Amino acid sequence: MLGASVNGGMPFTGKNRASFFVFSLLSVWSSLFSCSRAANSISRGQLVRAGETLISSSGIFELGFFSPANSSLRYVGIWYHKISVKTVVWVANRESPVSDESGVLTVSSDGNLVVLDGPDRTVWSSGINFSSVPTSSTAVLMDEGNLVLLASEDADSASADGDVSNSYWQSFEHPTDTYLPGMRVRVNSAAGENRAFRSWRSSNDPSPGNFSLGVDPRVPPQIVIWGQSGRLWRSGHWNGLIFTGVPNMTSSFQYGFRLSSAEADGSMYFTYTPLNSSHLLMFHILWNGTEEQLGWDETSNEWIVLQEQPAKECDLYNKCGQFAICNEMDSPKCSCMEGFRPTSPDQWNKGNWSAGCARKTNLQCQDNIGISAGDGGRMDGFLELDGVKLPDFADYVSATSGDECQVKCLENCSCKAYTFVRGTWCMLWSADLIDVQHFAVGGLTLQIRLAYSDLGTKSKISNLFIIITVLVGAFVLGVAVWLLWRFKDNLKGFWIFNRKDKELPLCDYIVKNEEPYADMSGPDKQAGGPDIPVFNFSSIEAATNVFSEENILGLGGFGPVYKGKLPGGQEIAVKRLSRKSSQGVEEFTNEVKVIAKLQHRNLVRLLGFCVQGEDKMLVYEYMPNGSLDYFIFDPAKRAQLDWKKRFEIIEGIARGLLYLHRDSRLRIVHRDLKAGNILLDEDMNPKISDFGIAKIFNGDKNELSTERMVGTRGYMSPEYAMEGLFSFKSDVYSFGVLLLEIISGETNIGFRTPEHFTLIGHAWHHWNEGKVMELIDPCIRDTCSADELLRCIQVGLLCVQESAIDRLDMPNVVRLLESETAGLPLPKPPRSISTRGSIHSYSSGETAGLPSPKPPSLTSNTGSMDTYSSFESQEIESWNGVTVSSGDGR
Ligand SMILES: *[C@@H]1O[C@H](CO)[C@@H](O)[C@H](O)[C@H]1NC(C)=O
Ligand SMILES: *[C@@H]1O[C@H](CO)[C@@H](O)[C@H](O)[C@H]1NC(C)=O
Ligand SMILES: *[C@@H]1O[C@H](CO)[C@@H](O)[C@H](O)[C@H]1NC(C)=O
Ligand SMILES: *[C@@H]1O[C@H](CO)[C@@H](O)[C@H](O)[C@H]1NC(C)=O
Ligand SMILES: *[C@@H]1O[C@H](CO)[C@@H](O)[C@H](O)[C@H]1NC(C)=O
Ligand SMILES: *[C@@H]1O[C@H](CO)[C@@H](O)[C@H](O)[C@H]1NC(C)=O
Ligand SMILES: *[C@@H]1O[C@H](CO)[C@@H](O)[C@H](O)[C@H]1NC(C)=O
Ligand SMILES: *[C@@H]1O[C@H](CO)[C@@H](O)[C@H](O)[C@H]1NC(C)=O
Repeated sequence: MLGASVNGGMPFTGKNRASFFVFSLLSVWSSLFSCSRAANSISRGQLVRAGETLISSSGIFELGFFSPANSSLRYVGIWYHKISVKTVVWVANRESPVSDESGVLTVSSDGNLVVLDGPDRTVWSSGINFSSVPTSSTAVLMDEGNLVLLASEDADSASADGDVSNSYWQSFEHPTDTYLPGMRVRVNSAAGENRAFRSWRSSNDPSPGNFSLGVDPRVPPQIVIWGQSGRLWRSGHWNGLIFTGVPNMTSSFQYGFRLSSAEADGSMYFTYTPLNSSHLLMFHILWNGTEEQLGWDETSNEWIVLQEQPAKECDLYNKCGQFAICNEMDSPKCSCMEGFRPTSPDQWNKGNWSAGCARKTNLQCQDNIGISAGDGGRMDGFLELDGVKLPDFADYVSATSGDECQVKCLENCSCKAYTFVRGTWCMLWSADLIDVQHFAVGGLTLQIRLAYSDLGTKSKISNLFIIITVLVGAFVLGVAVWLLWRFKDNLKGFWIFNRKDKELPLCDYIVKNEEPYADMSGPDKQAGGPDIPVFNFSSIEAATNVFSEENILGLGGFGPVYKGKLPGGQEIAVKRLSRKSSQGVEEFTNEVKVIAKLQHRNLVRLLGFCVQGEDKMLVYEYMPNGSLDYFIFDPAKRAQLDWKKRFEIIEGIARGLLYLHRDSRLRIVHRDLKAGNILLDEDMNPKISDFGIAKIFNGDKNELSTERMVGTRGYMSPEYAMEGLFSFKSDVYSFGVLLLEIISGETNIGFRTPEHFTLIGHAWHHWNEGKVMELIDPCIRDTCSADELLRCIQVGLLCVQESAIDRLDMPNVVRLLESETAGLPLPKPPRSISTRGSIHSYSSGETAGLPSPKPPSLTSNTGSMDTYSSFESQEIESWNGVTVSSGDGR
């Protein structure tokens, strides 16, 4: 053991020693500082002995020998330096501890990092087989907690900029039981399950224990905990943003998981990035098989368990056996799936679920191959199971629609269930359906294949029930209508609505809007809202020329809009809501009353409404100049909007949206903001239309997530498009797209240049390279104010940040658009490619087994960002055809 040794934190490299002397000459304080400053690296011949440590350059992590509680054995490990609770995150010689203080850590003459127990007794080595022994190598403890072995000449730059790409060896690639931010966990189906993390044997024995944590790379990948006898827990499938079997993990913007796109060898990598990189955070697998995510709480000085898996009984792997469902809310928690019964009823009733359930009736296709007599030749069908953690061991195949996916399942008798998720996945199960859990919120829909008779019973009864209900209902309604008609004059005073047919021949009656504007201040404040005329159907028919096609102004997400003219000459726009809402007339009326109260100069005014049977109509003021898309995307008309006007339009939209989001009592999320929904009055002032309609259709639904997607391709935020999660920030995203469209005169729908597939990527690149003049509409190059323009683009880019949390909110948008000063945050590049690339690989990977996670576009494309972009436009298109109703009047 030659050379200098690390000595009680004394600086020991030549350079540091020199500075030590210089500093000690300068002042006492400097020398103390210099003395207390520990090294973060060792080179060949230098030693770390018991009691000595390396400390990463910012003092976050510390490396040295430690002994677990109640143990005299010594291990080399890494722990947090700056916190009071000793938390070991990595152990080098976990299988071969050193028994006394003689152990040292050093870089040996063959270049490896080694732990020695006495001269030349290597108990642990980084184990690199150098083809040619490097002249010198250095081990550096990085601030992420990564111990890196690299060529000595690279050591300084690596510890300065954190780039460890040319290292020989990294502890992050050989983790023990802990995941730290910055680590990458490999997902490679050719390489199989990656049990990257192995628990300690007990809380004070770091040797490898009985449990491991890692990734099952079957597409789509999952996180799994393995015990000695197999799986103990799994996260559910990764959908590109979240793990679908962790219901609490509902929102993409709270979780920092990412899956990178495939590299040349087909590997992808999971990473986790905390929201705030200065927070200490880790995941580890405990010695007892529980996975924990811990965050350090600086105020209480302790680790907080952020989540723990398995958390509940139903999270335990395959708790209820095959073809059964575990539901935490039920008692008992296990039940057989519809069409199945317990395999061994005695055991089942005793609460021994291990044998699971079996089919009541064989499938038709099984009978055909002669298993047993069954169902008289009637087709097998599918029963929908909502809100579940999908079974394990799926076969991923590609399909563009739910029907295609179903056909693929029906084609193969061994297919027992399928799931089709929002256009991107078709999963089939040929294995038994195991580890299915029912969630109170969240979860996906599983279609279970059943014989006709098992399928029928329930739906036959309910059909009969529905028919009877409908017949009785129709009869009662008929009688009621007849009575009303017969005695309508006598009942006049009892109408819930006051008739005013004399003065307003077009309106049947007027709804008194007595609810006060509780939230409003200033000029809008009044005792009650405006009364809302209820138009009768025939007058609307007359006004719109019996809804003639010539009168169609446009098709919105909720139905066609007709132009109409009232006898007095007033022009109106009539929106005919084509989709059925589940609401009755009264609920609809209430909803309209509320919407009618939303009044702002940048919102289109609602004049009244009309209900006729299933037909529901909203009557708006007519906007002579039509919608914004008609101007900005039209080569001839776009010149009419100079920069000043466009800036006013942007500000107007922002204020209208701010009003919807914050200042109105309802706090409405628009959900379909787009150029076609911005109308222009005679002075070209923008007015947002179609607000609040989403609410009519979802009045009592969970406001956070909905199956009925509204929205338009090109304007949908990633989290909305992928998961149906909408929030104020989804509107902000749409606003950002709209803003960039107004400035560039290009539409994001179908946008394509040789380099970019979305307007966002295009805009970011031009902005980033300082070439905004090439980005903007040529018509406004002469009139624009560079200052306003740059601010606008930056605000736009800040609105379309991929992560909702990074986006501005509307109050800030309005403030920043109007403020003169700079000081705006810098937008991040459109997307860290990663997540989307990975899903892309699912959608393009064919074959029933494990599709190759290497879509050609991911490797052949030039710009990684546009790899993502091309994927996004393709993906959203396919959703558009399936679930998303946008502008097609459905
Ligand atoms: C260490 O041993 C003592 C006495 O046997 C015991 O009370 C204590 O819980 C042990 N500590 C740990 C961490 O196991
Ligand atoms: C190291 O590599 C050399 C040449 O590549 C090979 O001959 C040798 O067996 C390897 N040693 C070990 C321990 O793997
Ligand atoms: C979700 O999280 C909340 C609070 O963090 C917790 O109370 C609840 O039990 C969790 N639900 C599930 C299903 O884990
Ligand atoms: C991150 O956390 C630190 C310490 O808690 C805090 O000072 C800082 O403002 C946070 N940064 C962000 C962006 O939230
Ligand atoms: C690990 O497995 C061994 C042998 O099967 C057993 O004795 C021990 O109790 C297990 N440890 C834990 C923590 O389950
Ligand atoms: C393992 O230990 C942790 C913390 O001590 C505890 O929260 C968890 O419930 C334990 N898990 C099992 C399976 O006993
Ligand atoms: C549970 O049932 C299975 C078979 O159905 C049986 O082999 C096993 O012994 C039972 N376990 C208990 C604890 O009764
Ligand atoms: C049916 O699916 C199973 C499992 O995926 C597969 O092994 C078998 O070849 C398929 N049969 C046909 C006829 O496609």
